Amino acid sequence: MISSPASPSRTCPTSPVVSCESRSANAVCSSSSATASATAADAGEKIRADIGADANVFVRGVLHILDPAGRVAFARTLHQVVGVRGRVFLAETNFRGSALGYLEHLGATARHIPAPLERAIADLPRPGHFGGPERVNVFPASEWVVVADGPADIETIPLRGTGEPEHIPGYYAVMAARQ
Ligand SMILES: C[S@@+](CC[C@H](N)C(=O)[O-])C[C@H]1O[C@@H](n2cnc3c(N)ncnc32)[C@H](O)[C@@H]1O
Repeated sequence: MISSPASPSRTCPTSPVVSCESRSANAVCSSSSATASATAADAGEKIRADIGADANVFVRGVLHILDPAGRVAFARTLHQVVGVRGRVFLAETNFRGSALGYLEHLGATARHIPAPLERAIADLPRPGHFGGPERVNVFPASEWVVVADGPADIETIPLRGTGEPEHIPGYYAVMAARQ
């Protein structure tokens, strides 16, 4: 999600607990030129041209699924889009256990996988994790200033059939582009 710093924004948390209401938000969803991929070489340029100003960017759950090259390309796009006045607010899942441990955390047992979880596994990209160590590599101090960061609570869609969301340990960061 992208917004101009001059307009109301949901990008700056006052609490380290993140509970996003827009669970389907894509990183670049509200820019009309935002295109299929924020990792494309010209994505930042196109988004800037579309908005015509520095922008705030809300990223949720994207970096953890990208490979190392995709993460670097994504960060380059963000750097262009936020410019001088914009900020990035990212919230990512940061489950550090095994893939099996992750499934158990979300409700799977040796005998049973809840149907919503099974559908999520089938439909969604393979999850990774993104936390402080990854942020340091992808958003180096030579290019980014960290305004705030820390642990976050990432809510999922209900996955056990109870109607209640699951909670995944996460990581949030608010960052400005170093000029
Ligand atoms: C695990 S889903 C998270 C969905 C949602 N943002 C959330 O937090 O529940 C990963 C998201 O990353 C987006 N995504 C993956 N690669 C992308 C790229 N290159 N550019 C922009 N968005 C990308 C996908 O469209 C998908 O919405």
